[in-house]
This record gives sequence, C-alpha cells and structure tokens, in this order.
Amino acid sequence: MAKVKTTFFCQNCGTQYAKWQGQCNACKEWNTIVEEVIQKPEKSDWKSPTSTVKKASVPLRIKDIDVSKEPRLNAFDDEFNRVLGGGIVPGSLTLLGGEPGIGKSTLLLQISLKLPYKTLYVSGEESQKQIKMRAERINPENNHCYILTETKTQNIFKQIEVLEPDIVIIDSIQTLHSDYIESSSGSISQIKECTTELIKFAKETATPVLLIGHITKDGNIAGPKILEHMVDTVLQFEGDRNHVFRILRANKNRFGSTNELGIYEMQGSGLREVTNPSEILISKKDEELSGNAVAATLEGMRPLMIEVQALVSTAVYGTPQRSATGFNAKRLNMLLAVLEKRAGFRLGAKDVFLNITGGITVDDPAIDLAVVAAILSSNEDMALQKDFCFAAEVGLSGEIRPVQRVEQRILEAEKLGFSTIFVSKYNKISLKNSAIKIQMISKIEDLVGFVV
Ligand code: TYD
Ligand code: MG
Repeated sequence: MAKVKTTFFCQNCGTQYAKWQGQCNACKEWNTIVEEVIQKPEKSDWKSPTSTVKKASVPLRIKDIDVSKEPRLNAFDDEFNRVLGGGIVPGSLTLLGGEPGIGKSTLLLQISLKLPYKTLYVSGEESQKQIKMRAERINPENNHCYILTETKTQNIFKQIEVLEPDIVIIDSIQTLHSDYIESSSGSISQIKECTTELIKFAKETATPVLLIGHITKDGNIAGPKILEHMVDTVLQFEGDRNHVFRILRANKNRFGSTNELGIYEMQGSGLREVTNPSEILISKKDEELSGNAVAATLEGMRPLMIEVQALVSTAVYGTPQRSATGFNAKRLNMLLAVLEKRAGFRLGAKDVFLNITGGITVDDPAIDLAVVAAILSSNEDMALQKDFCFAAEVGLSGEIRPVQRVEQRILEAEKLGFSTIFVSKYNKISLKNSAIKIQMISKIEDLVGFVV
C-alpha cells in the first residue's frame, strides 16, 4: 500500500513544516502546528472531465483588453455596492468575515434575494428549510435564488454546471471540502484547495463568488492569512451583537478604495441600510444631561456624528476604575492624565466610565475633544449646550491638534443643526458664510472656559 503523504501546517499563519514542532517560526504562536494528510491532486480543477464549459484564456496586449464590456453587477444594496467600490466585479472572489451571529448569512442571503440574476446560495451550515424560514422573513418573493446544501466542492461544481448561475455564494469556506485533499474541513490545506478551485471557476467563467469566512477570537479570519491573499476583496462585518448597528468595511479591495463603509441596522426582517447614520446615532433629547458630548467623526469617507457619554464619580474602592466601551481604554487614561496635569482636575480618586453610544467602536482621533468635554461635564455635573459638537485631537501637552478633512465634518454638523463646532486653531478652514459657529481653540484650558 502506498504510504500516506502528510505534512505539518501552522493553523494560524499557514506555514508548512516537514516535522512537528512546538512553536511556529513564522508567527511565533505555540501549539498551532498540526499534521495534515495531503495528496497531490491528479487534476485540481473545478470542472468534471466531461465538462463542456471551456473558455481557455489567451494572452492579450494590455491596450486590447476591454474593460468596458464587463460592467459591475449591481448588488441592489447601496451600502454593499459602495463598500465594494461600485458593485460586484464579474469573476471576482470576495470574502466576508465576521464574528458568529453578527449577520453574515443574513446579509448575503438578503442580497441574493434582492438580485434579479440567477443566484446560487450554497450552505454547508444550515438546511434548505432553515434558510427558507429565514428568507421568508426577509423577502419571500424571489424566483431567481437557488439554495443548495452541500459541502463537497466537486458536487457543488456539478450543480453549477447544470444551473449556470450568474453569482455564487458560499456559506462558509470553512465547511467546504475537496476530494483531492484528505484532511478534514476547515484545515489549512482544505481551505487552500477549495479556494483555489473557486478562484479557477470564477476567473474562467467570469462568475463572481462571495465567500463567508469565520473569524477567530482575536478577530482574524480563521484559517491561513493566505486565504486573504488569494481573494480579491476582504470585507469585515462588525458591530456589537447586543446592539442593532452593523458596520461593513473593506480591509482589502483590488477594485476600489478601502475607505468606504456601509452601515446596517438589524431588524426583525433582516438588515436595513442606514443612509443617514448621524441622525440615528445622536439621541434627540429635550433635556440637557451632564456627561454627554457629540463628536464629528469620520468613518472611512463618511462623516458620522457620534454621542459620547462619560460618568465621573467618587471611587468607592481604593483603586479607581476606568472603563471604556467603544473607545481605547489606554487613550482614555492618557486623556485623563492630560486633564489632570494641564487643566488641574483632580481625577485620581474618581471612577471614570466612558461609552460610545450605538455599540460602535471609534478609532478616529478627532473624538478626543468630545471625550474630554464629556468627562469635564460629568465631573462638574453641568450639561453642555445641546447644540455643541467637537472635532479635534488632544495632544500630550494639552494642545488641541488639527484633524483631517475638517470641512467635511463642519458641513455635516451644520446639516444636522448644531450651532457651534469646536476645532483646532491650527486647522485651515476656507468655508465661507456657514451658519454654524466655528470655535477655534488651541489648548485644553480654552475648552474649560466654554464647557464648565
Ligand atoms: P446570522 O446571519 O445567522 O449570523 P452569522 O451568519 O454571521 O453567524 O445572524 C444571526 C442573528 O441575526 C441572529 O441572532 C438573529 C438575527 N436576525 C435578526 O435579528 N433578524 C433577521 O431578520 C434575521 C434573519 C436574523
Ligand atoms: Mg451563518
């Protein structure tokens, strides 16, 4: 009997080894190296030998390649189209990653139900009945969407040859397995092989393929990094599962910018596109409450007004607590130190809690000034004026630093009816006769005069 050929792969980064070892040399992770059976495929192809689909590729001079012939497919979802850079590119492979339960299957099923093209939704995770039940909540009337529950790639391609769909969706890449490789589904060599087959299929037939990928605890797409290198576009679906907002962003995009962002709201009947996020993220209260401040942030290319809430109270225990939701806790500590040193606030014996409303995470430094204003307001127990908003970074010496694309932020604040926006003195602004008052400040002490 022929000896079974095996090799060792790091399950974290995909590096191959001839023998087992405890730590991966490449990514330095421990206990990630696993033995996998490999068998060189005689013919690693998506087509069966009798296939009639044959579109051999020939070299073309670059100027002769016609790009206009292949317009992008409209996904009939403005947020999704925008993140992809204007629609789905024929023949492209898109990977959608996200935590379990965040709504990946819902998003792609919803898109396949909206498309007027023939769509094949392949699920290795749920039965046809389960998918049908979900589809009924979203959009029960669609005659172009086919559901297949299958995990073997060879069987999937057999069905594809019969059906000839315009777009293929795979839920998820970790459940697929190919006959050419003997190791179990979800292992590095299976993921690599299945993705290679799908890429071949997509490029040869110009059919776009959307893949769902699971992510690990630390937020990486489970499986090798190579998977992210192989596909054309990597999308990340994120949000707090206990909140309704979901953010779709592109981490890699061969056909467009990675600055775009899509926002959805999870509802009983699927995901709703949020076209004017700012209006939803700021609560419209009549009462003025202390500890609330609004920041004019940018998420990707979109301006987004976000509400920051702070609570400062006397510490009950010896060590004061500092906690931040949706904001970097280290940055919060830094801002507290700046307030203590530069503005003379004794916050050392106080608990400080900070929350970005809506369950979203912000890493735009322009939120700093709003965080500082919210903390000051809560500390003094005095509400800020409701129609104030902030857009500036705070430096270590208490200086108010300029932020990028400040004019776009000002225009958004003006549109939403804010009366005053606080920005850095060092921002160059050439806006003429705007209705909003632009308050320029240079030091944190300047802010203190306005808010407390
Ligand atoms: P799902 O798409 O199954 O997540 P994933 O594929 O990323 O693991 O989404 C599951 C969650 O979405 C589930 O907790 C229920 C919720 N949901 C709604 O709130 N409304 C809906 O219409 C649907 C279909 C799901
Ligand atoms: Mg799912």
